[in-house]
Amino acid sequence: MPRPYPGSLIVLEGIDGTGKSTQAKLLAAALREQGHRVALSREPTDGPFGRRLRESATTGRLSPEEELQLFHQDRREHVETLIEPALQGGEIVILDRYYFSSMAYQGIRGFDPQEIRRVSEEFAPPPDLLLLLDLSLDTALARIGVRNGEANEFEQRESLQLCSEIFHSVQDDFVTIIDADQSIDEIHAAILGTVTSLLRKAD
Ligand code: ADP
Ligand code: TYD
Repeated sequence: MPRPYPGSLIVLEGIDGTGKSTQAKLLAAALREQGHRVALSREPTDGPFGRRLRESATTGRLSPEEELQLFHQDRREHVETLIEPALQGGEIVILDRYYFSSMAYQGIRGFDPQEIRRVSEEFAPPPDLLLLLDLSLDTALARIGVRNGEANEFEQRESLQLCSEIFHSVQDDFVTIIDADQSIDEIHAAILGTVTSLLRKAD
């Protein structure tokens, strides 16, 4: 099916500590170096809804319903103000997290991941490429500084394991799994290889 826009939408997903932010920045820089126009963004965004979500991480967690609602509002605004205009303008849009994170993180708070996906895709374009960064729980927790035996270690481990399972349940053609248990440079090379072949096909 032909794409409804001239740009490309590339999404990085994975549990905390897999290296999404690091790799999103490296990918954006490499593509710009090649002469592409790139929009690099993230969710939650830096807009009003995204800021409320980030603040809630320190000021006390929202109810599951409020939280899901805010993620949808944040994403709706992100699609309208940045993602769709950039795709229509022929840019490569790179997103550090997208609605697959809602499937995973709000999924483990009791919502049906498939229903979250259905609602999201009513207003959010699916990606051309979803890079799922895959890393063992031990390494991911070590990278984000969670130590064995810490008070919340068990809870975090359990939550991230469930999130990881939901991410891996997405098995569409646009998914590429990236082994994130390598050096930053090796992961970057693997990602750039995958993205380059996607862009060649789109030409
Ligand atoms: P995410 O955005 O997925 O949470 P980050 O890119 O913020 O992950 O990386 C989490 C931490 O792990 C940071 O301190 C970062 O410097 C480090 N890191 C990222 N990639 C690697 C890697 N391949 N090997 C070792 N450490 C890494
Ligand atoms: P982020 O800033 O990417 O955190 P990190 O850099 O530690 O990976 O994301 C903040 C948190 O928001 C993260 O724990 C995942 C969560 N999140 C959701 O719960 N639902 C969503 O839809 C998104 C996009 C993020």
